[in-house]
Amino acid sequence: MTRREFLGAAASTAVAPSGTANQDAAARPSARLIASAPVLMNAAESSVGVAFAVSADASGWVDVSLRPDMGDAMRVYSGTGAVMRVDARFATIRTCGLRPATRYYYRIGADRIAFDDDYKRSNLGAEVDPKGRSFATLGAAAEGSFCVIQDTHSRLPIVDMVLAKLSELKPSVIVWNGDARNFYRTYRDAVGTFLRPHPKWPEYAAESPLMFLNGNHDFRGRFGLHLEDLMMFREQSERHARYAGLGRNFVQRLGDIALIGLDTGEDKQDTNPILAGITRMTEYRKLQTRWRAEAIEEPAIRTAKFKVAFCHIPLFDRRTNENPGDVLPADDDPRYRHPWAAWQRTCATMWGPLFAKAGVQLVVTGHQHCFRYDPPTRERPWAHMVGGGPDFVPGQSRGYPTVIEGRVRDGRLAITVHDCGNNRIVFDRTFA
Ligand SMILES: [Fe+2]
Ligand SMILES: [Fe+2]
Repeated sequence: MTRREFLGAAASTAVAPSGTANQDAAARPSARLIASAPVLMNAAESSVGVAFAVSADASGWVDVSLRPDMGDAMRVYSGTGAVMRVDARFATIRTCGLRPATRYYYRIGADRIAFDDDYKRSNLGAEVDPKGRSFATLGAAAEGSFCVIQDTHSRLPIVDMVLAKLSELKPSVIVWNGDARNFYRTYRDAVGTFLRPHPKWPEYAAESPLMFLNGNHDFRGRFGLHLEDLMMFREQSERHARYAGLGRNFVQRLGDIALIGLDTGEDKQDTNPILAGITRMTEYRKLQTRWRAEAIEEPAIRTAKFKVAFCHIPLFDRRTNENPGDVLPADDDPRYRHPWAAWQRTCATMWGPLFAKAGVQLVVTGHQHCFRYDPPTRERPWAHMVGGGPDFVPGQSRGYPTVIEGRVRDGRLAITVHDCGNNRIVFDRTFA
């Protein structure tokens, strides 16, 4: 790739500086500027996002090269347009214009920016993280595995178990299938959850990109309303303008597997008064249905031998006392155990036929905090899986956290479910 291609491709998400963070940073002028390892996100054929924490006003950047020695490295800055983005909380950088199924080497850095007064600002110099890292772009020619995690809810012992398993498995991508935390009151909650999730595993996503999908909890708290400030939406240019609002949805090829990301949204109705009338999940789900109907006709899906879809809230439950998420106006119905959606019948009705038409083999969900496998039936030709949760007690055989691993093995889609609490495999099956 030429330098011109690289510079033309650089982009990033929008992040507003925080006055509170500025004050905190001013109180720690000697702190390291780069305050976390990089976290990769939203991997695609030609782009990947990079985010890391900073401790003071800074403009972050990434050097990217096809060579391990970083020869011919191109620098991609945070922000587009007339000025680089300066932020005292974190840097979010989008590297675009990459080659599919290609390994790139990278390092991160940040320029420390001081605002001396209203008319003068200073660049106090760059801090460079000397550690060399790499990532691989996706595509039909890509190789490797995916791993799914969900419902960690920022419980440190659970996060430790799950990230330890990821460190062992080293997947090509990590689908983080929601409920990473209960709520995000400020940006600090999000930085702690995603950029520094556990002190033992600072590099957990430095070489395996996150494909993050919201759980119902990830919309909660003031910062959670716009979690995309840190957990970047997918690159805008990689979807049609009419789907601009679908920042989380993805269809990406990982070799023979098409990975399909969907967002089931909140587990309460838009009309439920506790949501203050500011959610639009009903329309959001319908828009995803239209996108999905078009997406299954794309070559990325049509030509994929295996198709796996991901969303947080289950799309099936055989139990009749579990709330299917379609109780108006406020989710409360004496027939059901809880006044919130245990599963999403509306999404199942809209998306299920599309899964069948596309030949989706497996839908991976979470939300219920207990691993379950629902084999396909005549009416529902796709298998359905619910990942484990955060309520693990050592010695118990239920409620354990899981890592769901998928890869192509001997020409078949192999799905292995790791019980991270008891360090055992609880499911190992192949799909044709
Ligand atoms: Fe959860
Ligand atoms: Fe949930």
